[in-house]
Amino acid sequence: MKYFLDSAITKEIKYAYENWAIDGVTTNPKHIMNSGKSFLTIVDELAGEFGEIKNFPISVEINPHLDNAREMVTEGKKIAARSSNFVVKIPCTEPGLIAAKELKKEGISTNVTLVFSPSQAIQTARIGAAFVSPFVGWKENSGEDTAPYIQDIVNIYKTYGFETEIIVAALRNGKQIVDAAKAGANIVTCGFDVYRSSFDHAFTDYGLNVFRNAWDNTKTEVTV
Ligand code: E4P
Repeated sequence: MKYFLDSAITKEIKYAYENWAIDGVTTNPKHIMNSGKSFLTIVDELAGEFGEIKNFPISVEINPHLDNAREMVTEGKKIAARSSNFVVKIPCTEPGLIAAKELKKEGISTNVTLVFSPSQAIQTARIGAAFVSPFVGWKENSGEDTAPYIQDIVNIYKTYGFETEIIVAALRNGKQIVDAAKAGANIVTCGFDVYRSSFDHAFTDYGLNVFRNAWDNTKTEVTV
């Protein structure tokens, strides 16, 4: 399973790439706002820092105010031209899906985002998007059990041999990462803190203390 970092902060991405072997990046307008920098500054930083890494997709989302396919395609082409690693992130609306289909014809990869149902995921795969991003955290916050919905998408894609890769998105904890892995999703994308806490366990810390204590109380050799 691949791990993408959901972030627009260069320092975090660099750390996660060098230390955790992350396989790609996803950004969205919220991450760019949180970085405190402009859209173009972030896009240039990402292209400059990570544009040369092989097989390292970086999803950059189009202006969310665009609501017709033609404008989305124009913006998508501009984004894609800035780095061969850039994947154009497009919302799962009817115009968004039309734009993704057109970009595919131009050889441009897309990540269809804001997906909340298997029917949206089916059309995303039919039109040949490289990635689909079904969201988990938002649905779970509203009391939905998301494991069956991710499992349905994985099963449908297998049945029809769809090549679109599934990025399970908006994850909040290690259990949701495990659920995505159990369902057979290709990729998860998480924030920096979600990954970091998923590497830890309270019993690991407890056990380490037990072993440190044992180490300190072990007889030492007496030298003559
Ligand atoms: C995914 O591609 C999105 O960038 C992301 O997961 C959005 O959700 P969140 O900001 O609520 O985590």
